[in-house]
This record gives sequence, C-alpha cells and structure tokens, in this order.
Amino acid sequence: MMSRARTVPAFEHGVSLRELNTFGLPATARTLVRITGDADVRRVLDDPALGRAPKLVLGGGSNLILTRDPDEVVLKVEVMGRRLLEERADAWIVEVGAGERWHDVVAWTLDQGWPGLENLALIPGTVGAAPVQNIGAYGLELADRFESLDAVGLVTGRAVTLDAQACAFGYRDSVFKRQGFGGLAGKSLITRVRLRLPRPWQPVLGYLDLERRMAETGIREPDARTIFDWVCAIRRAKLPDPAAIGNAGSFFKNPVVSPEQCRDIIARDPHIVHYPMADGSFKLAAGWLIDACGWKGKSVGRAGVYEKQALVLVNRGGASGAEVVTLARAIQESVYGRFGIRLEPEPVLL
Ligand code: EPU
Repeated sequence: MMSRARTVPAFEHGVSLRELNTFGLPATARTLVRITGDADVRRVLDDPALGRAPKLVLGGGSNLILTRDPDEVVLKVEVMGRRLLEERADAWIVEVGAGERWHDVVAWTLDQGWPGLENLALIPGTVGAAPVQNIGAYGLELADRFESLDAVGLVTGRAVTLDAQACAFGYRDSVFKRQGFGGLAGKSLITRVRLRLPRPWQPVLGYLDLERRMAETGIREPDARTIFDWVCAIRRAKLPDPAAIGNAGSFFKNPVVSPEQCRDIIARDPHIVHYPMADGSFKLAAGWLIDACGWKGKSVGRAGVYEKQALVLVNRGGASGAEVVTLARAIQESVYGRFGIRLEPEPVLL
C-alpha cells in the first residue's frame, strides 16, 4: 500500500514555552499545534478531543506574559510567504504570512524598493501579531500601512477577510485584543496580512528622536534606508534585545488624560512629558512617570526595570511570571499614589 502524506498537523504534548516567549518565562503547553495554513486550523477544530477546547494563539511570543501553564490548546502560527500582490499607481500592496518575522519583512520590503515600513524596524514579533496590538513606533502605526487581513474563526473554522474598519484599530489595540461581545480575542487566528505602502513614498519624521538625528547628522531629507538605520540605532540604544535580555517591549501603555487632568498634573510636576492628541486629550509618557517614581534599574525578585528605559520590564535571569506581575503591580501602585494615574499593561497577561 502506498504511504499517505501526513494530513493532520502534529499535536505536540508537554511543550516548554520558555523559548517561545521573548520574556523567557517558564510555562508548559499541554498541547501545541503548529499552524502552517487555514487547513491546519480546521483539522484542529475537527479533532474530537481538541475541537471545542479553548485555544491560545501564539505568534513570536513578544507581547505575552505567561503566569501559568496554558490549559488552552496552543496554536503556534507558522504561516509563511511574502509577495507583491499589486503594484498600483498609489501604493504597493504586499501580502505576508502571519508567521513571518516582522522585522525581516520590513527589511525585505526596503530591499525590494517598496519603502514605507522603515519607522517600524526592529519591532520584535511576527506579522500576525502586528495588527493584534496595532504595533507602532516613531510616529507610525501598523494601521497607517494596513490594507486587510485573512483570519480563520476558531469556533467556526470559517475564513474571513477583514479591512481596517473591521479590525477597529486603536492605540495598541484592536478587535483581536477585545474580549466579550464583538471582540475577537481567542476567537480567531490571523493567517495573512496585506500591507499598503503608499506611492510616492513620504518620510514620517515628526518624532523627537528622529528630529534629533536630523539635527545631529545635518541630513534634512533622509531616504527610507537612512530612517531605517536611525530607528534601528535608536532602538538598540534604549531597548533591550530580547535575544540577550528577556522582555516584552513597553510593559504599560502611555496613559491618555483629559486636558483638566493634564493641567492638574503639570501644576504638581511641571516637567512631566506630555503630548497633545488630535481629540484635545493628552498622552503622558508612562516611562517618565515610572522613572519619576524611582523605579529605573530596580528589581523585585528576578524581574526588573530596564536601566535605560523605565517602561520596559526585564527578566534578570530565571524570573517567573508571578514575579513580573508582582513588580508590575508595585509600579502601578506607586504611579497611582504619586500621580493618581492607573497604568494599563500593554502585553497580554495569561
Ligand atoms: N522617559 C523618561 N524615562 C524613562 C523612559 C522614558 O523620562 O525611563 C521619557 C523620555 O525621555 C521621553 C518620553 O519619556 O521624553 C517618551 O519616551 P520614548 O520616546 O522612549 O517612548 P515611549 O513612550 O517610552 C513609545 C512606545 C514604544 C515605541 C516608542 C517610540 C508605547 C507604550 N511605547 O515608548 O513602543 O517604540 O514610543 O515610538 O506606546 C512597545 O510598544 O513595545 C514599544 C517599545
């Protein structure tokens, strides 16, 4: 008899997740399935034992704090592929598999001569995770370069295509982070993302760190490659490389306050770093607030606050999820005590 090709994705049991989350937190998946396409998801859903079990979608693990062993079936997204889908007069449309590394895609588009993602260089994680938290840096967000995405329902197994409106992007937020009615957290798995890179290319230069580079170098009209290099250098100077020091990027969102609240806080602390938003509210720099409370370089157990950027919590070696959460709570309490502001975590806490 002829041997048949494997049609069922391999179900792995008792898989350590330590290497699969950038914070390096210990946890074990009871069951892990590697997903290389829509069909793999449907096979999991058709499985009599796993079909109806809750699912946890895992990309690069760079925005996840593991405080327990997941009971959920872990679906590790490994959908690959990159291609130019369309070359329009007003944009290049690029389609990328959700399992591709975000930074590799940024570098690849630049190499191909399709600029537009350079401000988002070096963000850890995968392409599929980018829309989930609407990644952003140096004046640009994923939402600004988003065309549409494909996802598979984790209950129905149905493939859908969502546009930006359906994704409901917000600041480090989207429908994929929202629980409950209308939210898609835990209910769908992103398989492919289409990016829109506008033509003609225009640089995004408003961010202070980039303006500083322009002043220092005297380059008044940097090209996309130069901006890419600057962003990489800025990030390397103040953010820890997860390959060397476990971390999940910014641990808290920058809080948004009303003009009255902002005036109040400035009256108490004139140096507070704040940015006016389009709707009249103000965004405060959470890193500044944490720094002002004296947390930079401090530790609780084996979890710590990064020396060069107080918004980033790090693994000093062998930290547990519980230690990270204890440290995060202590920071939240001291910021609340001093400024009356509740910091909200940015990564997903499990
Ligand atoms: N600051 C301090 N002390 C600190 C850290 C920051 O005083 O320890 C001050 C800085 O001097 C600066 C201000 O706070 O005036 C803002 O700092 P920075 O420009 O480094 O940006 P951020 O608000 O800390 C945000 C994003 C980052 C993104 C950068 C650049 C959030 C939660 N974080 O950080 O995103 O790379 O801007 O655009 O919005 C991430 O989401 O994981 C992330 C790294």
